[in-house]
Amino acid sequence: MKTILVTGGAGYIGSHTVVELLNAGYKVVVADNFCTSKHFIINQVEIITSKKPIVFEGDLCNQTFVQDVFNANKYDAIIHFAAFKAVGESVEQPLKYYKNNLFSLINLLDACANNGIKNFVFSSSCTVYGTPEVLPVSEQTPLQVATSPYGNTKQISEEIITDFVKSKEFNAISLRYFNPVGAHKSALIGELPIGSPNNLVPFVTQTAIGKRQQLSVFGGDYNTPDGTCIRDYIHVVDLAKAHVKAIERLFTGISKNRNEFINIGTGKGYSVLEAIKSFEKVSEQKLNYKVVERRAGDVERVFADTTLSNKILNWKAELNLDDMMLSAWNWEKYCKTNNIE
Ligand code: UFG
Repeated sequence: MKTILVTGGAGYIGSHTVVELLNAGYKVVVADNFCTSKHFIINQVEIITSKKPIVFEGDLCNQTFVQDVFNANKYDAIIHFAAFKAVGESVEQPLKYYKNNLFSLINLLDACANNGIKNFVFSSSCTVYGTPEVLPVSEQTPLQVATSPYGNTKQISEEIITDFVKSKEFNAISLRYFNPVGAHKSALIGELPIGSPNNLVPFVTQTAIGKRQQLSVFGGDYNTPDGTCIRDYIHVVDLAKAHVKAIERLFTGISKNRNEFINIGTGKGYSVLEAIKSFEKVSEQKLNYKVVERRAGDVERVFADTTLSNKILNWKAELNLDDMMLSAWNWEKYCKTNNIE
């Protein structure tokens, strides 16, 4: 049985990936400091899979903690999710983002070198493309200067990994996610935003459940069919499965000494109003929303060219926008019933 270390495994995408890895028969070790995640999520993962991940609680910026994690087990691969991800907060506190997101990566790569671990999957983002001139966005699209410290940590992380791969026998895949949304079909795990959500779908579900009064739709005057921004929303379970495929690719040895970047999206773009319509349909209720001013920094439209992921990962998104909205809604209702904040 192969063992996978999942950093940030109690987080939103991390926990869904741990479920898919356990279901695929891997032994899973989670390293998480639970600063933006909750302990009960690990119990929920156990309920879903009837399997138990091993958990190390601590900070990956702490080298002693990282050494402890690596001394305790031999890992066949690492999936590195643990990072801060709030764009606005990163503008206010850039050093917090650079320190956390980069020190943790460097410590992990160091530990890989010291322990002979050669397989690494990195959690990157379509934010590296900025405002793309050509759509859909393929992996060949030149990267643009990052518009936030958060985005910059993703770009710098990709560069650090690139240089590391050049320096030794090491195989890395960076998955560039588009807009992950939705929750596990069991409704036992899902996204847990801290405070008022910045992202669309948790704001939609929190408005519908009565936690927020009204959703603001940021901008109705974009050059799109209905005037609202277009995104490539990807179901978090499809995204989690892409990580299992990436691990499998690394284990085949095809990626030996390679550094690969792969878009993970559906290839379809939906507007904010289309997303709201889908939510209203599956939840059978009207959403209280209002079109307001544009939000600074928003890209008008972005969606993925998925050719590479389809080809080299043998992966394709299977769940549609309605599945995303319904699962997010079921998770919101579960949280309310169980007083999960
Ligand atoms: N939106 C609203 N109202 C809200 C929240 C969002 O109208 O309350 C709109 C945004 O303006 C945008 C769309 O919904 O048009 C999606 O916004 P999100 O905040 O959900 O997602 P973003 O595309 O802005 O951000 C996502 C990730 C970031 C990543 C970025 C890269 O959350 O981590 O994609 O483009 F950096």
